[in-house]
Amino acid sequence: MSQENFLVTGAHGFIGAWVVKRLLAEGAGVTIFDQSANPQRLRLIMDDDEIARAKFVEADITDSDTVSHAVEQNNINHIIHLAGVQVPICRANPRHGAMVNVIGTINVFEAAKNSGGQIKKVVYASSAAVFGEAEDGQAVSEGEAGAMTTHYGAFKRCNEDNARVYFLDNGISSIGLRPLTVYGTGRDFGMTSDPTKAMKAAIVGRPFHIRFGGKTDFLYVADCADAFIRSATVNLQGAHVFNLHGETVPVADVVTEIEKWVPAAKGLITVAADGIKMPSHLDDSAINAALGGVPHTPLAQGVKETIDRFTLLQSENRLDISDLDQ
Ligand SMILES: NC(=O)c1ccc[n+]([C@@H]2O[C@H](COP(=O)([O-])OP(=O)(O)OC[C@H]3O[C@@H](n4cnc5c(N)ncnc54)[C@H](O)[C@@H]3O)[C@@H](O)[C@H]2O)c1
Repeated sequence: MSQENFLVTGAHGFIGAWVVKRLLAEGAGVTIFDQSANPQRLRLIMDDDEIARAKFVEADITDSDTVSHAVEQNNINHIIHLAGVQVPICRANPRHGAMVNVIGTINVFEAAKNSGGQIKKVVYASSAAVFGEAEDGQAVSEGEAGAMTTHYGAFKRCNEDNARVYFLDNGISSIGLRPLTVYGTGRDFGMTSDPTKAMKAAIVGRPFHIRFGGKTDFLYVADCADAFIRSATVNLQGAHVFNLHGETVPVADVVTEIEKWVPAAKGLITVAADGIKMPSHLDDSAINAALGGVPHTPLAQGVKETIDRFTLLQSENRLDISDLDQ
C-alpha cells in the first residue's frame, strides 16, 4: 500500500486516530485534515515517532476549497471522511451541524469531482442515527432507514442521498458506513461514549452512571477503522451505504465485563433503564458480502484491550479523566 496517499478528515477525532494508526502501520501516506491541531487522541494509541509520519493540514471543512487544496498538495488518491459534529452539537445548533456535517461532506465530494479522476471513491462516516426506533433486538437492514429522531441523523441521511447523486451526475463512487455505539480508547464525547467512560471510571475507582440501558450494537474501534480502510481500497463502483455491526448485548453486559477485569469497581457503575432511540442490532450481511468479510472483535476482548490501554496510560500519568464530568 506504500504508494497510496490517504486524506483522513477528522483524524484528530476518536475513530480517525485509529484509522491513522492502521494506515501508518501498513505503510500508507497519511494526511490528517482537522480543524483541531490537538493530536491528543493519536497520542493515546501511538508514539510521537509514528505520529510524525503523518502530514497535518489544519483547516475547516466548511471552507469550500480547503479539501481540494489538501488533495492537490498531497497527491491524495483516497479520502476517508470522518470530520463531523455529534448529536448534542447538532441538537444545540442545527445550523452549525448542517454546515459541518452536510456542507462539509459536499466539500469532500466536490474535491473528488475536481481531482481529475485522481480520487475514484469517497468513503464517509454515516451513522445508525439514520434509523428511527426499532423493535428491541430486531436486526435492521440498510433499506429500513428513515423516521430519524435527531437532526444529526437527518444530516447523515442527507449525505447518503447526496453521495448517490454525485455518482449519478459525476460518476464518483462512494461507501458510507453506519456505525452505532463505537467504543475504545479515545472515545470521550456523546451519549454513546458512556460505556467507554465507565471503563475509565472503573480504573480510577470513581462511580459512573451510564445514561442509557437496554441493548445496543457495540463496535470495537479497531474493527470500525478497519472497515473504513477496507472500504477505501476495495474495487467497488457505485454509491453504497453499509451498516456496521459488532455485538448486540445489554449495556449491563459491558459492566459485567468491566467488573471482571477491575473487580474493585464492583457496584460503582450503574446503568439507566431506558435505551437509546435507535435499533439495537444492525444487519451487516451487505458489507460482509461486498468486502468479503470484516473483522469482529468479541466484546470481551475489546473491553479488555481498552481497560489494558487505560491502565497503561494511568501508570504513565497520562489518563485524562476530564471527560468523566461531562
Ligand atoms: N463514535 C461513534 O460511535 C460514531 C457512531 C456513528 C457515526 N460516527 C461518525 O463517525 C465520524 C467520526 O466520529 P468520532 O467519534 O471519531 O468523532 P469525533 O468527534 O471524535 O471526531 C470528529 C473530528 O472532526 C473534527 N471536526 C469537527 N468539525 C470540523 C470542521 N468544521 N472542520 C474540520 N474538522 C472538524 C473534530 O476536530 C474531530 O477531530 C463522525 O462523522 C461521526 O458522526 C461516530
